[in-house]
Amino acid sequence: MLVTEARHSDGMSVTTATIALATGAQIPQVGLGVWQSPQGAGTRDAVTAALELGYRHIDTARVYRNEPDVGAAVNQSSVPRSEIFVTTKLWNDDQGYDSAQKALDASLKRLALDYVDLYLIHWPVPHKRRESWRALEAAFANGKAKAIGVSNYLVPHLTELLGEAKVKPHVDQIELTPFLQRRETRALCQQHGIVVEAYSPLTRGARLEDPILGAVAKAAQRTPAQVLLRWGIQHGHVILPKSTRRERIAENAALFDFALDAAQMTKLDRLEEGLATGWDPDGAP
Ligand SMILES: NC(=O)c1ccc[n+]([C@@H]2O[C@H](COP(=O)([O-])OP(=O)(O)OC[C@H]3O[C@@H](n4cnc5c(N)ncnc54)[C@H](OP(=O)(O)O)[C@@H]3O)[C@@H](O)[C@H]2O)c1
Repeated sequence: MLVTEARHSDGMSVTTATIALATGAQIPQVGLGVWQSPQGAGTRDAVTAALELGYRHIDTARVYRNEPDVGAAVNQSSVPRSEIFVTTKLWNDDQGYDSAQKALDASLKRLALDYVDLYLIHWPVPHKRRESWRALEAAFANGKAKAIGVSNYLVPHLTELLGEAKVKPHVDQIELTPFLQRRETRALCQQHGIVVEAYSPLTRGARLEDPILGAVAKAAQRTPAQVLLRWGIQHGHVILPKSTRRERIAENAALFDFALDAAQMTKLDRLEEGLATGWDPDGAP
């Protein structure tokens, strides 16, 4: 995995890094998540702030109901569309070959964009996901999605897909923190050149008070949130922290002027406890 770090030429204070996808495109390693960002100004302002602060990657989904607000902020930004990486996702009710293609068209319309940089199957819905994947392959071929991938796919789901896909998924987006590490899934992704994206990288707040995390943060002179995110960066994940507050949006991207040493990474790596804070695809058929 090649990670390229670069400071924005517009002089923004945030330094970003990108990872090469199998398509050859670069995906910014820090993306703003917008699940539970409110419709309207709440999401528009968060995305606008993120773009001003140097983010170049936004992660939405049809089911978040804020695609119009993400699209409006992207389209109104002075940052060129070509420099912003936009992801949306196929919701479960829309799975199937024809319905998935229609769902992408509808998402593009709500976003007011000609293409998305990444389209993901949100969840491995049994009996539907294989047909859905064929629709995503078609979207990749016709350019409506510049990259395609999956979300909440663990080893069994990925193994099934890799056995029949014409286009291998470029990305797998899964919940990933020191408290939930999905090591087998990450190893399989690495073997197949699939970039791993970490959702809920702040544990949705559930472990920000953890004492070991706190001690590492104190030693690094950073916040617990920044240490959790830096752990993901050093493991080579794309990270998708969500906030609607400007100061936290800035905090969550200020990750490239410090590093955790090997001993600190080991302390965090020992925090595994199988903590899934939302839905859990482990054991999903
Ligand atoms: N594919 C999937 O199934 C899936 C599932 C879940 C999430 N996701 C994606 O991943 C993104 C992030 O996950 P998430 O929203 O579940 O959780 P998260 O990013 O782990 O945590 C978000 C929570 O932490 C707070 N927060 C943000 N920055 C903070 C900071 N620096 N210090 C303290 N608290 C902070 C936020 O509150 P404020 O907003 O008030 O700051 C919010 O309550 C989502 O928005 C979505 O894009 C995908």
